[in-house]
Amino acid sequence: MKPHLHPSPTLFVFMVILAIVVRFPTIRCQVTSRYDTCGESIECGSVQLEYPFWGSGRPAYCGHSGFQLTCRSDAFVLNYQSVEYRVLRMDSSTLTITVARNDLWATECPQYLHNTTYNTTLFNGNNFGQEDVSLYYGCNSTAQTFPTNEFNCNVNDTESDSYFYRTNLINNNLANFSVQCNDHITVPVNQTWATQLALPAATTDQLRSALTSGFNLQWTAYKNECDRCMQSDGRCGSNATSPESFACYCASGEFSLTCDNSNESEGKSFSNLDIPLRL
Ligand SMILES: *[C@@H]1O[C@H](CO)[C@@H](O)[C@H](O)[C@H]1NC(C)=O
Ligand SMILES: *[C@@H]1O[C@H](CO)[C@@H](O)[C@H](O)[C@H]1NC(C)=O
Ligand SMILES: *[C@@H]1O[C@H](CO)[C@@H](O)[C@H](O)[C@H]1NC(C)=O
Ligand SMILES: *[C@@H]1O[C@H](CO)[C@@H](O)[C@H](O)[C@H]1NC(C)=O
Ligand SMILES: *[C@@H]1O[C@H](CO)[C@@H](O)[C@H](O)[C@H]1NC(C)=O
Ligand SMILES: *[C@@H]1O[C@H](CO)[C@@H](O)[C@H](O)[C@H]1NC(C)=O
Ligand SMILES: *[C@@H]1O[C@H](CO)[C@@H](O)[C@H](O)[C@H]1NC(C)=O
Ligand SMILES: *[C@@H]1O[C@H](CO)[C@@H](O)[C@H](O)[C@H]1NC(C)=O
Repeated sequence: MKPHLHPSPTLFVFMVILAIVVRFPTIRCQVTSRYDTCGESIECGSVQLEYPFWGSGRPAYCGHSGFQLTCRSDAFVLNYQSVEYRVLRMDSSTLTITVARNDLWATECPQYLHNTTYNTTLFNGNNFGQEDVSLYYGCNSTAQTFPTNEFNCNVNDTESDSYFYRTNLINNNLANFSVQCNDHITVPVNQTWATQLALPAATTDQLRSALTSGFNLQWTAYKNECDRCMQSDGRCGSNATSPESFACYCASGEFSLTCDNSNESEGKSFSNLDIPLRL
């Protein structure tokens, strides 16, 4: 309804100069391509984000939806079912992240007790020979024989005994020590630590070291697609409009598989994705 405002003379002159200096439409300059965005390096602590992870300013289309990480001043954390997992390392050649329970990072006495779990859609269950250690809390110290693998925690505002065991040996241990506990959780540790923690002389310091060395998870994402995309100088990501699909972001544009994929130039109607829709 309102007439357009005339640009001020200064602005007009500026625009003309800009149009001469920059010889193509300014609109194009203002758009940062997804290729550029996904190539930006995002770090937190000593870890650099790699596909399929995203977050902390790296958009979801540079990764895949479940792999969001948040930077908590000194480390990336992955959130799953009320538990934060601190990312210690990330290795895209083996598809492995090493994570440690953030709630057990500075103390073996967390405020809330949660088991260690992961999303089996995102991580494939390769356990790298790791073993669980079980932490028992709120235990009665009336037992006749005291196990050495004991530590103290203030649970529910009460100082109470806690114990750690290599999970595989628990039936054996619990039968020998008539200790009763309110609750327990399990945490994976590597094989070396599992063996150490099962020894009668295992200490709470060793438990702490085991918990802070973390455990490995192997992620599942479009590995073959991503390898092919990167070989064609593309950057891996997901389709911004259908986030479950893979996308390859390239200097020359966006493709579903590889940069300048010749199959794709034949037209989208020939792509595999459309076939089920026509059945
Ligand atoms: C696991 O990840 C998938 C893929 O991101 C997601 O759809 C699903 O909701 C996740 N499951 C849970 C329990 O968070
Ligand atoms: C952890 O898992 C064990 C075994 O599945 C279960 O007995 C225990 O209650 C769980 N602990 C918590 C805090 O959920
Ligand atoms: C803490 O108290 C709650 C409620 O009384 C109880 O269910 C829970 O098992 C207690 N936790 C521990 C570790 O003793
Ligand atoms: C439990 O007690 C039995 C019999 O006394 C013994 O043979 C076994 O080694 C003990 N297990 C542990 C883990 O101490
Ligand atoms: C610990 O011992 C006390 C007294 O013997 C008993 O009332 C309580 O239920 C016991 N708690 C557990 C977790 O076994
Ligand atoms: C377990 O972790 C410790 C410390 O992080 C490391 O020195 C050791 O080599 C690891 N062992 C295995 C079997 O990975
Ligand atoms: C993303 O998905 C849309 C709709 O499924 C499709 O039209 C488009 O070609 C896809 N883009 C890429 C880069 O794969
Ligand atoms: C592209 O098309 C060729 C020939 O039609 C086929 O052999 C090849 O597998 C296709 N590549 C992809 C990535 O679909």
